Amino acid sequence: MGTKKVILAYSGGLDTSCCVRWLKDRGWDVICFMADLGQEMDVATARKRARAAGASKLYVKNLRKEFIEEIIWPTLQAGAVYEGKYYLATALGRPLIGKYLALLAKEEGASAVAHGCTGKGNDQVRIELAVRMLNPGLKIIAPVREWEFGSREEEIEYCRLNRIPIDVSKKKVYSIDENLWGVSIECGVLEDPFVEPPADAYQITTDPSQLKAKPVYLDIEFKEGVPIKINGKRMKAEELIRYLNKLGGKYGIGRIDMVEDRLVGIKSREIYEAPAAEILYTAHKELEMLVLDRDTLHFKTLISNRFAQLVYFGLWFSPLRKAMSAFVSETQKTVSGLVRLKIGPGWVKVVGRKSRFSRYKKRLATYDSTDKFDHKAAEGFIKLWGLPFE
Ligand code: ARG
Repeated sequence: MGTKKVILAYSGGLDTSCCVRWLKDRGWDVICFMADLGQEMDVATARKRARAAGASKLYVKNLRKEFIEEIIWPTLQAGAVYEGKYYLATALGRPLIGKYLALLAKEEGASAVAHGCTGKGNDQVRIELAVRMLNPGLKIIAPVREWEFGSREEEIEYCRLNRIPIDVSKKKVYSIDENLWGVSIECGVLEDPFVEPPADAYQITTDPSQLKAKPVYLDIEFKEGVPIKINGKRMKAEELIRYLNKLGGKYGIGRIDMVEDRLVGIKSREIYEAPAAEILYTAHKELEMLVLDRDTLHFKTLISNRFAQLVYFGLWFSPLRKAMSAFVSETQKTVSGLVRLKIGPGWVKVVGRKSRFSRYKKRLATYDSTDKFDHKAAEGFIKLWGLPFE
């Protein structure tokens, strides 16, 4: 019998480094896979750790372009926000990780894939469903759900015994997940939903209450629902998101503190930072309000909510999500134009919008002498509108 091969979604951190060794101890040839979704990564250190833990290979794949074009933009266009607050950064990254686990397994002739998610989170569901929708034959191993370690200390001891170089000098206070679209922070003192997040919980935004920064204007231009220019300057998608994260972060925009409903039935408290998402959602929605007809605009709000739920619940690759994306795409044909925002400490407001597809007609809206609205027609209209209720 040949060696059993497994592809492990690897982050370079403590949990997944333990996973490498744990799988290896159970007879697996472990191939590590790191997905580059725009998070900060120390590949050199990760490579050292993976090797020391017993991995035979480490693949690093830049998925940023696909992440933005195939996942982030369609979600922004759908206006999807989970439970009205969460811009879904973590939830959007997981399906791609699952997809590439399945693809790599095929390339490498592996019979299994593995991940370091716990048994009570959403991420296990998202990764595993993506893997299964693409290749239902693969075995999926989740060491953290099965293994004997009951604490971080025990994992550290396991690494020490197995000579896996882990930096434990910094005490870990939070569990943090990060990608280009935002940062998710949980655990530690945040587990008490009444405790205000301490300053050190936030990773990429400054505390707006400490800021004296003057408000600035920000022009965002969209083409078919995709942001393409900032203040008149054309930017590549990744550059544009990074620019807005930096600027918004400096202004303390996009801090979210929420108690959310996980798929596995529990409520959890999480802090999010998503400056670019907050700015782009604000601008995009405003442009839609200018260019979409009333029925489409109103119908789309139904889609937004359901879309967010599907994403959060791990169903990115489902037929319904794809069908809803097809609908959303159709609505974006006229979502081109310019939105002028004003941003200040902790806030972003719309102050102007224009588009060649604008449905705003001054001659109908105005109250001055150029008014072309047929006031007399209103009388008959109201008569019939109210008829069913007489
Ligand atoms: N609660 C978020 C979600 O389910 C983020 C999960 C990961 N969070 C973390 N801090 N590691 O999408």
